Amino acid sequence: MRKKIVAGNWKMNNDLAETEMFLVELKKQVFPENVVLMLAPPFTNLNHAFKSLREHNVEIAAQNMHQSNDGAFTGEISAKMLKSVGAKTVIVGHSERRAIFNEDNAVLAEKVNTALENEMTIIFCIGEELEDRKKENHFKLVKTQLEEGLFHVSNDSWESIIIAYEPVWAIGTGETASPEQAQEMHKFIRKTIAENYSKAIAEKVSILYGGSVKPDNAAEIFGQDDVDGGLIGGASLQVDSFMKIVNSF
Ligand code: 13P
Repeated sequence: MRKKIVAGNWKMNNDLAETEMFLVELKKQVFPENVVLMLAPPFTNLNHAFKSLREHNVEIAAQNMHQSNDGAFTGEISAKMLKSVGAKTVIVGHSERRAIFNEDNAVLAEKVNTALENEMTIIFCIGEELEDRKKENHFKLVKTQLEEGLFHVSNDSWESIIIAYEPVWAIGTGETASPEQAQEMHKFIRKTIAENYSKAIAEKVSILYGGSVKPDNAAEIFGQDDVDGGLIGGASLQVDSFMKIVNSF
């Protein structure tokens, strides 16, 4: 059985006081046993969130990391630093990192290697822009993102990999992929992994959907055969909406 996962990506939201308010409220909730919960606060709040949630079955993830283990990279954060404050998981290749910070598939491949070397779990994000979909280039683009960013890893590494399909046109726009569009792409991603590795590996990897997941559309999206959960932006900022999504399986 594949793991069901709901991960909240806070992006650049919530300072320490706001994080604390969220955590106090979150810890009053009952978490479903069949879902892995993850929270990705900004770097500055990782350790606080980790300590606060230690007893609560919520994993802490970072939103990004540098591909080098240390060195003269002013402003950057390494895998070792993330682990030292309690983040065992890292989001790699979010579309905002790709588009705004020019992270290409080659640099993402390096980040993947560094995260694996440091025994971290990776949430590897892929997804097309609206233009790609209009030109019907979306399957090819997603395949290239996988091939160039991820498909160099060993068979064993897949134990530590989660995929997040996030169509860029659906992020923060209120427009979601339809459940059928999500399923179609997730099935394609799984098939592509099977072709490059094995059916057994492809069947085991959790593939999350991200892009305007809200309490009122989560159940339908999560109900698709190849959708194993969600990577949630805006709706993860309030405990109420986040928990409704967590309870949507
Ligand atoms: P929204 O849920 O705000 O659309 O963001 C999705 C996302 O980018 C999660 O990583």
